[in-house]
Amino acid sequence: MQELLLNQSATASPIAGTTPFPLLSREGVRAYRRALFQKKVLDQCASSPFPGTLVLRDAEKQSNFIKDFWTHPETMRIMCEAMGVPLDVIMPTEIGHTNIQVEGATVSDMTKNLNIEPTAEKVELTVEERAYDPLKDVSTIIPWHYDSYPYVCVLMLSETEGMIGGETYIKKGDGTAKKVEGPRIGHAVMLQGGEVEHLAARAKGVKERISTITSYRSGVPTVYDSSYMTNVRPYANLNSLYPEWTQYRLRKLRDEITHYLNKVEKEPELALDQVALEKLVTEQADYLQRTSRQMIAPKEHRRILKAYGSAAYYDAPKIWRTVQSLPEFGEFASSADKNRVWMPESVYWMDLKSSNEAIRLGRPLKATMGNFIWDKERQYYMGDELLRQGLNELFLDWLGTSGLWDIYHKLA
Ligand SMILES: [Fe+2]
Repeated sequence: MQELLLNQSATASPIAGTTPFPLLSREGVRAYRRALFQKKVLDQCASSPFPGTLVLRDAEKQSNFIKDFWTHPETMRIMCEAMGVPLDVIMPTEIGHTNIQVEGATVSDMTKNLNIEPTAEKVELTVEERAYDPLKDVSTIIPWHYDSYPYVCVLMLSETEGMIGGETYIKKGDGTAKKVEGPRIGHAVMLQGGEVEHLAARAKGVKERISTITSYRSGVPTVYDSSYMTNVRPYANLNSLYPEWTQYRLRKLRDEITHYLNKVEKEPELALDQVALEKLVTEQADYLQRTSRQMIAPKEHRRILKAYGSAAYYDAPKIWRTVQSLPEFGEFASSADKNRVWMPESVYWMDLKSSNEAIRLGRPLKATMGNFIWDKERQYYMGDELLRQGLNELFLDWLGTSGLWDIYHKLA
């Protein structure tokens, strides 16, 4: 983190990301692919949330191999050692999220093209495609972002020979980009993706690209867990995501309280430290509140995504930047908030109030994009608050109610 000129919190890992390291042998890759391409896994886990991409989620519920591979003490040891801090898997549903680029127009077409043996077949590239620069070509990249979870491990299950792209860029403290090579077959990279702004270059030149991803948080009590479900809500099965999320959050909360309780049981006078107690209470209350705020009602989530599209959901921060430059912006946004035209009965108005209070006191807020310090001259709006909390669907809904979406949409 220091080398990249990034601020490191005292408790998180000093490592922003690793270079690729070997994790699976050739035979291991084949065994993993065999587990992944079983009929029951493909039947139960496959969806195509974006054109040309097949996603497999919850494969660990269908395959013991996949579950055991990621949760094995030796695998855990390697992950923790690579990042230099103790880690826990976020929750079972985030074990081995798999992204597949393969030929085919539909889910069933794409699954038919999956073979246990990794293919080395290449795709001819045009001169233009060869010259592809992910830092300049804004249309073909996964743009700059923070992950929803603090740490991530990406394991490559495809041949990468002849592949162009596929690497990750990290944004340094001075605004320049640092390239991190993508992993070869059987290799993995780890990234502190929740703290480090990064960009993934699209891979070209290969017939298939299969990478599998497991997400982690710190396994140490008192270390802040910056997890959100923002990035996963649109494609996850919310009925399996939410119960796991609730359990993991409450368990973490219990561990934090047990940790503090153990301390004050041993040394009762520690409880006289009002500042430490206040910090614990504030942080845990905030954590608990975010636990439920992140669980947008599935019906509401689907309604808004249908109305605005999932591209707008992921583009929400960019849309907000554009909207702020509209001449109508100030008038529309402040009138929307003054008259509470959007969900007047909701808890978010209380959140907006308390964020405004924190801003007045100069206290930093937690946000999906790391520590959040309000440095703008203008009023802090509900749009800012909903994006801070990573509630992109509610942000779009607010934007629509304020009238700003219509103006933006006409321009776009
Ligand atoms: Fe990412």
